[in-house]
Amino acid sequence: MPFQYKKVLVLGATSGIGWALAAKFVENGVSVIAVGRRQEKLDDFAKQYGTTGKATVDTAAFDITKLQEIPKFAQDMFTKHPDIDCVMLNAGLQRHLSWVEPEKVKLDDLELEVFTNYISQMHLTKAFLPYLQKQAPTPTSMIYTTSGLALVPILYCPNYCATKAAVHHMVLAMRQQLKDAQSNVKIIELFPPAVQTELHDAKHQPEMGDKGSSMGMPLNDFTKEAYEGLCKDGDENEQIPVQAVKSFMGFDSWEQERQKTMMKLAGAMKK
Ligand SMILES: NC(=O)c1ccc[n+]([C@@H]2O[C@H](COP(=O)([O-])OP(=O)(O)OC[C@H]3O[C@@H](n4cnc5c(N)ncnc54)[C@H](OP(=O)(O)O)[C@@H]3O)[C@@H](O)[C@H]2O)c1
Repeated sequence: MPFQYKKVLVLGATSGIGWALAAKFVENGVSVIAVGRRQEKLDDFAKQYGTTGKATVDTAAFDITKLQEIPKFAQDMFTKHPDIDCVMLNAGLQRHLSWVEPEKVKLDDLELEVFTNYISQMHLTKAFLPYLQKQAPTPTSMIYTTSGLALVPILYCPNYCATKAAVHHMVLAMRQQLKDAQSNVKIIELFPPAVQTELHDAKHQPEMGDKGSSMGMPLNDFTKEAYEGLCKDGDENEQIPVQAVKSFMGFDSWEQERQKTMMKLAGAMKK
């Protein structure tokens, strides 16, 4: 199956997973609007992929933590590109945190992580969902990049894990609400394992030293598997666990039990 949507707004497309998937979209004839804060990276992306002729490429510099500006940003995007049929919320960051020495916990870092990875994602959802809903009955989608760490926390970045678990819970409920309302907006969740991107770089996590950039699976391998998952049909691409997330991190086993229990609760509440 080819990817079902024709024009994707990718937030967090200036490096790593967002850049690689945005490039994959363009290579497969899907138009992209790449978003991030770093203008020079956006220019690089447009230069590399804007002239392939397979699809259109546009860029927009935006900081998703500027919550007050999000409604205007969404309006601007859809005024310029009324045919956006997929919004990928992928921007995120990760920080170390240890409670062993609470006096060293940087609450500013913790708050920025919660804002970037959760609060901003909710503001973006509220701002973008109506534009996708207005396109009914045309199928549209929102893609959320969470993480295997939304299912199982690791010890060096527990606040990051908590933000991803929060988005995962929200997405599970949001998907079902929209399905019950026979919405034209599909809610897709992409669960990467550790991937070699800038996420673990020393510039973001000095505790990693020079080991951060080699942590996880190669970005190309991740992108291939993630894109194949996105191109599946029906319910098959609603949740895309990649590599270790499937078995080792429990998506294929106990996470299924959790989701069955959620549906049982939903059924009981309806009665
Ligand atoms: N790499 C992994 O091991 C891994 C595993 C599981 C999940 N993930 C998730 O995958 C997503 C992408 O991360 P990545 O691994 O590709 O890391 P990355 O290379 O550091 O990319 C992060 C992206 O988010 C953007 N971003 C961060 N803060 C932003 C802000 N305030 N406003 C707008 N854009 C912002 C960055 O753009 P600018 O800096 O230009 O703004 C960049 O494009 C994240 O949600 C991450 O949590 C990654």
